[in-house]
Amino acid sequence: MNPKPNIVNLPVYKPGKPIEEVKKELGLDDVIKLASNENPYGASPSAKAAIIADLDNLFLYPDGSAAELTAALAGHLGVQSENIIFGCGSDEIIALICRAFFLPGDETIMADQTFSVYKSNADIEGAVSIEVPLADGTHDLNGMLARITDKTKVIWICNPNNPTGTIVAHEALVTFLNAVPSGVMVVLDEAYFEYVTDPDYSDGIKLLEQYPNLVVLRTFSKIYGLAALRIGYGVASPQIINLINKVREPFNTSRLAQAGALAALADQDYVAECRRLNSEGIVQLQTEFRRLGLHAFPANGNFIMVDVRKPALEVFDALLRLGIIVRAGHRLYPTYIRVTVGSAEQNKAFITALEQTLSEQEVRA
Ligand SMILES: Cc1ncc(COP(=O)(O)O)c(C=O)c1O
Repeated sequence: MNPKPNIVNLPVYKPGKPIEEVKKELGLDDVIKLASNENPYGASPSAKAAIIADLDNLFLYPDGSAAELTAALAGHLGVQSENIIFGCGSDEIIALICRAFFLPGDETIMADQTFSVYKSNADIEGAVSIEVPLADGTHDLNGMLARITDKTKVIWICNPNNPTGTIVAHEALVTFLNAVPSGVMVVLDEAYFEYVTDPDYSDGIKLLEQYPNLVVLRTFSKIYGLAALRIGYGVASPQIINLINKVREPFNTSRLAQAGALAALADQDYVAECRRLNSEGIVQLQTEFRRLGLHAFPANGNFIMVDVRKPALEVFDALLRLGIIVRAGHRLYPTYIRVTVGSAEQNKAFITALEQTLSEQEVRA
């Protein structure tokens, strides 16, 4: 068997540990997962009702173009249906962009560190990833501009950035977009857009008209609480959307995902409430980190990256044994863990476990 040479050394993506696996492995009854930036409050009740109402239609293929959902989202965002493509999560839109645009040897620029799916999909297509170190946990936009060559096809800006949670402010983003050659695509990943409350943050959709080389990614997996359904989307010029659509599978989003997303989109009160609770959770966690003397990056999504000043993988294991799943193993941040902002109660349980873990490790050291 002869696979493409560029995939031979690719690692398989390691997701956050599932709750059921941890319960079984460690014999725990209660496990709190704060590892995958899911919404701790779940989906809107109206989204659940819409999914249940569609269960009698499981035998039918979905509408491959997701026309009803696309029209509703276009109205919500103030764009045309032709500007939107849906994917099996925004993960799939990333993969489709790489599939549609990269030839082996093309270059693509991204931050180091950022969401790993950009690089893994670029690798699959044989493109060369140019990783530009973050400055203070934030995208170094000038550093990224300096790496543009005539081979550059796509630049990825994760805003807020996963895993650090930092944002690129509106003005800096506009200055950057003005400097990027019009033939280079900029993908602005706004998976956590709805959580951001900083007035300096920009709304990528509003930049689309001025920058035809821009693609904005968003998802129903985060604030909408529909991660299990796998539905996200890209917004861009009709020309770009048309090109991406050429490499999309015919039925890439399910009926239930479309039904759930349509109802979730209509329930903006629920979104606003989740945003409010998340902001409270950020304050709660940041207050505790300050009390414990731990540095954390400014959090703008529904997660915080905090320096536990110990090997993060050890702290991860110790927290796991106490029934709390977080994320560790960030190559450039070996003493940082990334924790999803949970409910007030979950955050409290996490802080108690963290304090216990850090003091136990101190005793041992
Ligand atoms: C920055 C970023 N982009 C995209 C995604 C993918 O989200 P999904 O495929 O669930 O829409 C994630 C998921 O964690 C993310 O953190």
